[in-house]
Amino acid sequence: MHLGIIMDGNGRWAVQRRLPRAFGHKRGASRVTEIVRICPDLNIKTLTLYAFSTENWQRAAHEVASLMKLFRGYLQNKFIELVENNVKVVFLGDTKPIERDIVLQMRKLEKATCNNDGLTLNIALNYSGRDEIIRVAKKIAKDCKSEILKIEDISDNLFQKYLDTKNQTDPDLIIRTAGNQRISNFLLWQIAYSELYFTETTWPDFSPEILKNILEVCKNRIRTYGTTSKKEKLIKSLNLNL
Ligand code: FPP
Repeated sequence: MHLGIIMDGNGRWAVQRRLPRAFGHKRGASRVTEIVRICPDLNIKTLTLYAFSTENWQRAAHEVASLMKLFRGYLQNKFIELVENNVKVVFLGDTKPIERDIVLQMRKLEKATCNNDGLTLNIALNYSGRDEIIRVAKKIAKDCKSEILKIEDISDNLFQKYLDTKNQTDPDLIIRTAGNQRISNFLLWQIAYSELYFTETTWPDFSPEILKNILEVCKNRIRTYGTTSKKEKLIKSLNLNL
């Protein structure tokens, strides 16, 4: 239902081909379009893409500039396609440091697609999980101070309503491309019970076919959410003799 992707390896893909890193990002953006298009056919309801982390500002200025140019281009060029394909676009992260014209385009796209009920596409831009949790903590503290909330009201459920992913289901599966097996500050609250899948394939080489194969492999994983009863029930229902 909800797939999250850490799109890694754009730089390595380019360096291996003696190309500037920006070429890897450009190829990565084409992969985004392909994967977004295929999601409805694979019954994926929500796709969350880690496009730019709060740490990515520390990259060389020319690389940051090339990524911003790419986001600007994506927002302009894919606007009509996303609206017409019934995609609801939501941006995760703190927009403050992002250039004004890009933020205006982001808001315009969110507004134009807010009533779409096909794929929900979350694009995490200037996002990190810790930053999101801190922003939530500040908002909750503010609402307690102004007596909109009582401390006793704070619960898992309430916290969820303050997240950038409010009212969405948590990811069922997180895929990270390009070999590294870490989470890198992605959706820290939301991935408590997500399945994880790491592939050596770099993001610019990722394809709908590879995604289909990963889903096929992962569909048999039994998710227990910390309980055993569910597992036992499931094993019983599958008639497995362990
Ligand atoms: C990580 O690869 C990738 C990024 C920091 C950028 C992700 C951006 C895109 C895929 C492009 C466009 C996205 C949208 C939504 C239009 P890396 O550069 O860290 O790779 P490396 O680890 O090999 O250096």
